[in-house]
Amino acid sequence: MIRPIVKYGEALLHRRAEAVYNVTAEIAALARDMVETMYAAPGIGLAAPQVGVPIRLIVIDLSLGRDSSGLITLLNPEFVEREGMQLEEEGCLSVPGFNATVARPGRATIRGIDLEGHDRIYSGEGLLARAFQHELDHLDGRVFVDRLRGIKRDLIVRRIRKQIRTGQW
Ligand code: NI
Repeated sequence: MIRPIVKYGEALLHRRAEAVYNVTAEIAALARDMVETMYAAPGIGLAAPQVGVPIRLIVIDLSLGRDSSGLITLLNPEFVEREGMQLEEEGCLSVPGFNATVARPGRATIRGIDLEGHDRIYSGEGLLARAFQHELDHLDGRVFVDRLRGIKRDLIVRRIRKQIRTGQW
């Protein structure tokens, strides 16, 4: 089931999400829905708060569903290692219509548990490292706009607020 995506400005997106201690049938269904929602968007990553559920669950698939081995579903993900830095243009399904260049780690390793409760560890560089940081940020209530500074950030926030005010968001 495709779920509606929560947008910038909704409180739930700007709050820290809760850890998951039991992989219930409800959480497994949520993970499936998140994958479906991500592919439909289309996007390469999605965090549970983006579909209105404030728990620490992310899905990532750089292949957009073309390669089934590319799908990562992780609960309670955390960084094991982050190194280097990359500057690339980035967007977010919760901030439609806006992009900005964001500094992210060049390489990253994360660990968490999968839907069967097994420990999983993933390493990535480039776009994958960027996706790790972007999605983990969501779990801490942070969107890419929050990683910007000064005029760049103010400009995007002002434009979003205007769209919210005029009912276009
Ligand atoms: Ni995002």
